[in-house]
Amino acid sequence: MENNRRSFLKKLGVAGATAAIIPSVFASETKPLHFLKRNENKSKNDPLGIALIGAGGMGVADAKTALKHENINMLAVCDLYDGRLEEAKARWGSDIYLTKDYKDILKRDDIDAVIIGTPDHWHKQISIDALKAGKHVYCEKPMIHSVEEGQNIIDTWKKSGKVYMVGSQGLSSLGNEKAKQLLEAGAIGEINYAEGFWARNSPLGAWQYPIPEDASPETIDWKKFIQPAEKRPFDEKRFFRWRNYTDYGTGMSGDLFVHLFSSLHFITSSKGPNKIASTGGLRYWEDGREVPDVLLGMFDYPDTESHPAFNLSLRCNFVDGTSGSTYLKIVGSKGSMDVTWDDVLLKQNSAGENDDPFLAEKASEENKSRRDRKKILPPSDTFFEAEKGYKGAHYDHFANFFHAIRTGGTVVEDPVFGFRAAAPALLCNESYRKNEFIEWDPKAMKIV
Ligand SMILES: NC(=O)c1ccc[n+]([C@@H]2O[C@H](COP(=O)([O-])OP(=O)(O)OC[C@H]3O[C@@H](n4cnc5c(N)ncnc54)[C@H](O)[C@@H]3O)[C@@H](O)[C@H]2O)c1
Repeated sequence: MENNRRSFLKKLGVAGATAAIIPSVFASETKPLHFLKRNENKSKNDPLGIALIGAGGMGVADAKTALKHENINMLAVCDLYDGRLEEAKARWGSDIYLTKDYKDILKRDDIDAVIIGTPDHWHKQISIDALKAGKHVYCEKPMIHSVEEGQNIIDTWKKSGKVYMVGSQGLSSLGNEKAKQLLEAGAIGEINYAEGFWARNSPLGAWQYPIPEDASPETIDWKKFIQPAEKRPFDEKRFFRWRNYTDYGTGMSGDLFVHLFSSLHFITSSKGPNKIASTGGLRYWEDGREVPDVLLGMFDYPDTESHPAFNLSLRCNFVDGTSGSTYLKIVGSKGSMDVTWDDVLLKQNSAGENDDPFLAEKASEENKSRRDRKKILPPSDTFFEAEKGYKGAHYDHFANFFHAIRTGGTVVEDPVFGFRAAAPALLCNESYRKNEFIEWDPKAMKIV
């Protein structure tokens, strides 16, 4: 009886909490239905108070996406530059609480969750302080600025019992989900290779952001900005173009490869590579930056329960004449997939052995009498595309975050996942600097 009811629910496509609201069909059953409910911390529609720490490009974009969800209230904003605080007030109204010290935000009881949109060198400390203050955290990628910081966040998160989501939103997309499903169903056979790239060719794309005219030690809390890094005199270029400097940013790999690692690890259920090598150079944007503008990475993924051994090749070019594109391709023994957040192009090798027993049987019958008869082939390319009106990966990522907070559930990109995606990206920088292969234990999350 119990099994019949479960399979009936499954067929209806209902699960979890929603199952509890279909009482009439099962009225004759004596068993209560409440065991199908999730253990909810907050009811689905309880309002959540959120705050933004780091109100620059991505932080603001994240906050706007968060506010597209129901019953989310933006209560406070922290930033180190006056201009960004003024913009926040103009955007979200004069009632919004503004501060240059994120600890003021963490003291407030009405804030359930914080979005961390600061440069990378502040992610660890703010994450840890926020979790210890009992806040749920949505932290932008890369979760960490150096490999040593990863375990620290994981330990604090585990003790906190709070939800922690890292912001490589692509892996919440319909495109990534479809690719995972296809790979697991054997659509491209066994994975043996993957490749990805980011190509840009503009000052903005290469991190030469505009510097506001009023940038000065009066309008910027420079001392706070460099607190986790080396002491230096005020430098507005370092503040607004922080990605170019290793004290604050994580280079092309920490900034961009990390997205490709996140999607790849999600699609393949991988814990990461065990061998990492990187090379590159500064070819064009010689503006005082400390990081290359062309970077290549090569990675060995070991044979595991989730996937066979395979290789990954990544590249990033900020002087790419073709420009404006990003790409992730997964290759297997029977085909390949070009994966984006909104679509998947599946290519299958129709010249190979036919897996369909009916077609195989038919072919062998026909071949006995007519050896030259052509076969009917399945399509070699299949294009899966998100439905019109799809709200996109950013929206889905926040949906996952808020749902986990409200139901006491889990998220797709927790600190363990976030660390495993960030570490090989950061170790690319290490390999580039040291000019050597780096060995990484993806399971234990340690440099070998
Ligand atoms: N998920 C994505 O697709 C994506 C895209 C872009 C950026 N990012 C990530 O988002 C983060 C921010 O990048 P961005 O492009 O928005 O940078 P940005 O320079 O536009 O914004 C960073 C903001 O943080 C503020 N800030 C610096 N230190 C602070 C502190 N201690 N407390 C409060 N505010 C502080 C700065 O004043 C600035 O306004 C980075 O970690 C980046 O890697 C993610």
